[in-house]
Amino acid sequence: MKRTRKAAAAALLIAAASFLYGCGKGQGSTSKNSPETSEKTADDTALTIGFAQVGEESDWRRANSESILNAFTAENGYNLLFEDAQNDPDVQMASVQKFIQEGVDYIVLEPIIETGWDPILKEVKEAGIPVIVADRNVAVSDDSLVTAWVGSDWLLEGAKACEWLNEYCRKHDIPPTSLKIVNIQGTIGSSPQIGRDAALRMGAGKYGWKMLGTSKGEFTQAKGREAMDDLIGRFPDLNVVYCDNDNEAYGAIEALEEAGKTIGTDLENGEVMLISFDAARQGLSYVKEGKIACDVECNPDHGPRIRELIGKLERGETVEKEQAVSEQIFARTDEIESVTVSDQEYPVVPVTDELLAERTY
Ligand code: AHR
Repeated sequence: MKRTRKAAAAALLIAAASFLYGCGKGQGSTSKNSPETSEKTADDTALTIGFAQVGEESDWRRANSESILNAFTAENGYNLLFEDAQNDPDVQMASVQKFIQEGVDYIVLEPIIETGWDPILKEVKEAGIPVIVADRNVAVSDDSLVTAWVGSDWLLEGAKACEWLNEYCRKHDIPPTSLKIVNIQGTIGSSPQIGRDAALRMGAGKYGWKMLGTSKGEFTQAKGREAMDDLIGRFPDLNVVYCDNDNEAYGAIEALEEAGKTIGTDLENGEVMLISFDAARQGLSYVKEGKIACDVECNPDHGPRIRELIGKLERGETVEKEQAVSEQIFARTDEIESVTVSDQEYPVVPVTDELLAERTY
């Protein structure tokens, strides 16, 4: 498919390639094709994709960026303009604005937060550029602003973790009222924070758990550690830490150990239990060691899915408007074989050395 936008974008890319290649992150639309392959930007059969990434906050995010980079190569027929917003929503909106000016063929947006997108996405629509939203969601007043979304079911992820915790307590005769839970929250207003934390509040209401308080971990190890220090200071008798992602859990583990707490699942004997999300390799090795009790997967491999969606759109085929990927739930053992959410049963996968060896991120 040939578009006038594409020819303009190709010319712009050729002019910009030598200037932009090698620029630091967040300093411009960096073409991720190599200098040699940037010649291919002259090929007006190649599709130009503007990709607005969140940042580099976590293991998950790095795996996600790799997945996009591997899917949208020059060899596969793409010019990828990769913008890293470094977790700043204003920077991310400016990236999208830039993609409009550059006349890209598609915008792939992984939004930092859900709100504030209406005005800029209206401009994108007026420019006739399809928008694929991936990973997190946007909350817009008109869903024709988004061509398709592929990502995770955040509420379901949280519900799986809560059902696992409830099953664990039931099996070990731990009274629900003895749970004293703190929540290290991801970036406030992001879909994973909204969904996973809503599930926790629902679980606490349903089972009668005590919610002590929250602190902001921004999905990073450093902030996770700070948040954990803060929570230990405010709630010294906490016994469950619900981390909104693995990197926060890594930081929480450091802080708990430094504070002399024992991490594990023996709540009756004063151990502190950690629940986490992502199931990155490091997170899963902590599960195997017994430092994370339950880790619910968040799948970062969106590159091939988005490429498939774009391929279908290019062929004029109808695409699914919303696609939530399937994700697993991991624990150290299979003493809890499965959890049930909304009448659907999900097996709990025990973490083995083989599983860790195969984990790619
Ligand atoms: O949007 C995906 C979430 O954000 C992942 O849980 C987390 O690690 C990431 O930073």
